[in-house]
Parts: sequence; C-alpha cells; structure tokens
Amino acid sequence: MRVVSLPGDPGVGPRLADLLGLEYIQFLHKKFPDGEIYLRLPKVIENEGVLLVQSMYPNQNDHTVELLLALELLSRYRNNITLLITYLAYARQDKEFLAGEPVSLRSLVKALSSLGLGTLVTIDAHSPLALREFLGTSRYINIVPDEVFAEAISRRYRREELTVIAPDQGAEKRAASLAELLGCRYIVVKKARDRITGNVTHVLDPLDSVSGIAVVVDDIVSTGGTIAGIASYLSSRGVRVVVAASHALFVGDAYDKLARSGVVEIYALPTTGVTVSGVTYLDMVPYIARKLREEKVVE
Ligand code: R5P
Repeated sequence: MRVVSLPGDPGVGPRLADLLGLEYIQFLHKKFPDGEIYLRLPKVIENEGVLLVQSMYPNQNDHTVELLLALELLSRYRNNITLLITYLAYARQDKEFLAGEPVSLRSLVKALSSLGLGTLVTIDAHSPLALREFLGTSRYINIVPDEVFAEAISRRYRREELTVIAPDQGAEKRAASLAELLGCRYIVVKKARDRITGNVTHVLDPLDSVSGIAVVVDDIVSTGGTIAGIASYLSSRGVRVVVAASHALFVGDAYDKLARSGVVEIYALPTTGVTVSGVTYLDMVPYIARKLREEKVVE
C-alpha cells in the first residue's frame, strides 16, 4: 500500500506513511487560467492498495473536485482505494431539513462511491449513521479520537472538577464517551436552530448544577455560535469553560467570540488546513495509524 496526499491534506499523509512504513506520494496540482483544477500523480500506481488523504476545509468545493478526479484516476488503474478524509465537508446537510433542499451528504458520498472507492475513513464525522447508509457497499470507518482529547484534558485537570457538556442532542454520544474516559459526569443541553436564519437557542437550566471546569465537546466549531451561548452562561456563574472540538473551522471572528464568552482553553485536532493561534492542536496521527492497523486497513 502507498499513501497519496491530495492538495487539502493538512500534513497527515506524510506522517502516516512514516509511522506505517509506507511509501509516500503527493499529487501535483495547479489551476488552469479559468479556475479549473488539474492533477497529476507523478508515479503511476496500478493494481495496488492506495491510502488517499484529503481534508475538505477550507476551499470545500475545490477539494471535492480533487477527490473526484483522483478517484477516477486511481480506480481506472484498478487500485484498491481507501480514502481518509480528515474533515468531511457538506456533512451537516444529512437530511432534507426544509422541503426542496438537496441532501448534500448523500450526493457527495454517492459520487465518491460511484468512482471506485473501496473504504471510506473519516475523523469524527458529523453523522456516521447517515454516511454508512449513503455509502452502499463501500466499507466505512469513523475514527473518533476521544482518547486523544481525554489524555490531554486529564493531564491538565483533575477529574473531580470536570463536567462534560454536549451543546446539542447530536453531541450526546461524543460527550458520554469522553466523560467515561475522563471519569466524570456529562450533561446534554437542548438546542434548537432556526433553519432559515441559522440562529441557535439553548435550554440552559440543566447547567445550573455545574461548577469547576466544564468541557464543552462538539464535532465542529464553525461560527462559534453554538458554544458561545453556553460558555457565557457558565462563565457568568464562575465555571471555567474548556472546549474540545474535533474540527476547528473558526469562521470569521469565531475565536474572539469564544474568548469573549469566557472560554479559557480550546483543544482541537489538526484536521483542516486552518491553524488558529491560541488553539491547542492535539497530535491525532499516531491514533489514526493505530486504528488503521486495528481495522486491518493497513497490515
Ligand atoms: C451541528 O450540529 C454541529 O455539530 C455543530 O454544533 C455546529 O456545526 C457548530 O456550528 P457553529 O460553531 O457555527 O455554531
């Protein structure tokens, strides 16, 4: 098997190749004057196992096209393709919330699987259940590096002072698993989102019992709106708020918004091409390598 990086790979491919003892190759890429994308693999790979690595943020649309082009090439040469997408874009539109909306995740996943994808690996995908359903016969593995977060948080804070908070019902599984690893309790906050304006509202009363340190856990921080309301409420009651988010997109003033709302520390994974100063990025690559071996994606 060889490890091949696409242009969105945030440096995961070369490190994985190193840890797994595999040859590493990078797609050459450029844009034509009209904006179209050109890719070329400097070495033809035929009839082999390929671990293709991509992140889809920022520049989701370009990185989507790169995926389509790369899969066309690799499958035409009859390779056995495993695709590792460290940040999967379009994952939150996993259903038709309002009549007339496309299910973006379904169209993306169906396009990938129609191009010869053997196995899809994601890092803490927003809705792994929907993904599995849309993928059809391709194999699917979702790696949730909660152990990586638990290790960093327990190195810094005492378990007795911690409460894990899920900022919406969708984050409950994530919160339960992190709380178990940390040996503390967790609370789920109910969230409602206005599907037209995107504004979120929370039912915050269950947070009144929290003291010490609250670890708010979520898959994605985009604008920061989901976590900021919770953090302001908790910090105004003297609770120190720590954020553990797998994918830190930090759109616009998201970082400042969280800082203003009293967040004292932010842990994230380096799954995207964005690095925000002040965020502690945890090394997830050894964990991914271990999981790929356990799942026998790599021997
Ligand atoms: C939504 O359900 C996700 O899990 C995140 O909670 C959401 O994407 C966060 O977005 P924002 O930071 O813009 O509130």
